[in-house]
Amino acid sequence: MTPSQTRDKLLQQHARLRELMSAAAKLAARLLAAGAVDAAATDEALLEFRGAVQDLRAAVAEHNETEEAILAPVLRAADAWGPLRVDRMIEEHAAEHAAFRAALAGDELDVAERMGDLAEELDAHMAAEERTFLSAAVLRDDVLNLDTCS
Ligand SMILES: [Fe+2]
Ligand SMILES: [Fe+2]
Repeated sequence: MTPSQTRDKLLQQHARLRELMSAAAKLAARLLAAGAVDAAATDEALLEFRGAVQDLRAAVAEHNETEEAILAPVLRAADAWGPLRVDRMIEEHAAEHAAFRAALAGDELDVAERMGDLAEELDAHMAAEERTFLSAAVLRDDVLNLDTCS
């Protein structure tokens, strides 16, 4: 896969994550509001929210795996920071991914309570990536060779 193909793939995953996150945040608000109405409304909202969270978990896991596989070679090849700083960025990035996975784990009502903050954090994480290692200036076909990355 060329750098620009890798970039396209990751940006498509970001767009999909934003759609899933937005849908899940709406369903979370509905679920939390339904609790104040009645049990039947809560059950229906819970089922829909559960489906949305499952889709989001799967998409986050797939994206994190893809991104972590390409991040190290991309950062090292584009390195303006020095290897130690690159290693630290990779560690911090993986820790943020782990935090997203943790925030999506557990009981649906707890996840629903966290969904607003999680949506903001995930969006900020992706926006920062798009400004830095996913920018067109970094993932250039004429500079990097990522053929070893699937
Ligand atoms: Fe990331
Ligand atoms: Fe990302």
